[in-house]
Amino acid sequence: MNSLCPRPPSVWQASPLLGIESSCDDTAAAVLDREGRVLSNIVASQVSVHGKFGGVVPELAARAHVSVIEGVVRLALQEAGIQIKNLGAIAVTEGPGLAGALLIGVNFAKGLSYALEIPLIGVNHLEGHITSAWLADSTFPLPCIVLVVSGGHTHLYQRERDGRCELLGCTRDDAAGEAFDKGAQMLGLEYPGGPAIDRVARHGDRQAISFPRFRSRTNKIEFSFSGLKTSLLYKLRGMDAHLASEQVADLAASYQEAIVSVLVDTAFTALARTGLAALAVVGGVSANSRLRTLLKERAEREDVHLSLPPMAYCTDNAAMIAAVGRRMLMTSGSRSVLDLDIDPMMAVNGRCATGPIPTS
Ligand code: KG4
Ligand code: ZN
Repeated sequence: MNSLCPRPPSVWQASPLLGIESSCDDTAAAVLDREGRVLSNIVASQVSVHGKFGGVVPELAARAHVSVIEGVVRLALQEAGIQIKNLGAIAVTEGPGLAGALLIGVNFAKGLSYALEIPLIGVNHLEGHITSAWLADSTFPLPCIVLVVSGGHTHLYQRERDGRCELLGCTRDDAAGEAFDKGAQMLGLEYPGGPAIDRVARHGDRQAISFPRFRSRTNKIEFSFSGLKTSLLYKLRGMDAHLASEQVADLAASYQEAIVSVLVDTAFTALARTGLAALAVVGGVSANSRLRTLLKERAEREDVHLSLPPMAYCTDNAAMIAAVGRRMLMTSGSRSVLDLDIDPMMAVNGRCATGPIPTS
């Protein structure tokens, strides 16, 4: 029992819940109502802070979170039409992520929780991404396969009806988002690289350049993108330093095709091996337009039930963090006390505390 929360659990559970996310380069806050509906979902991006460095600078990320977090939370409450005193609980990302960035969200949430005398729930960012599949469609079937594709993770899970997650496989080296970001940097495109490659690739020929596609030699379910990245580097070394925009478009389209076809093939291998017919694809890279097209085509062909979250829930957001927190509060009543600490290396550990979001 959290001694700071004199009100009984029935009161917290019947009140709106605030989610806070600050694990990387987005400062986000969202409010869910007692039924789990998203009342607001505010994200302050730090693209302008990190753009000139071509990637996230951890110290700058932490400072940017400090300067905007209060405004982002105020805006989330305002848009939700909720007064701060009516909040029932706060959920905050405790890991994985950048230590300095996580600390800002966790300490802000602790302060609010203490002042308002409401429970504080520490949430795993990856569980947040996994749960985003059920934010827009609470009826998506379980068990299913979940592919988490973000800047730091490329993980395939089997998720059970009770919310447990078993890790089926992951990347041996780079995450898919990292492959996009580093590839974009090599091509002279802006940060973040995923959306930049996605945009430029629309004007290119996907078959123009042949790139290696990873296939596991051990029959294991796994990914690898480092060979692909090296291949792009060598191809660029053999080309003129100043590429024409058509060449960049062809390189981007072919490189993107190599990444997304490996993601799709491996996810469908996991479906075939487990005999499951439902696939959820979540995380920042799930916003990729070519990946979404290929997934939809293949799912239709193979009669697979597919969940692709709306764009607002693909990249980092606080609605997914609030949804996990709400589930934890409703099911196990588990609440972190004020000594909640960040865990930058946090894993799903074979278990997700989340099940489908209850609708009532
Ligand atoms: O989930 P996310 O917002 O943050 C992490 O938890 O990492 O994912 C960020 C990643 C970045 O690598 C970004 O380049 C990639 O998602 N991304 C995309 C697209 N939008 C974001 N990758 C490919 N195509 C996109 N449209
Ligand atoms: Zn993320």
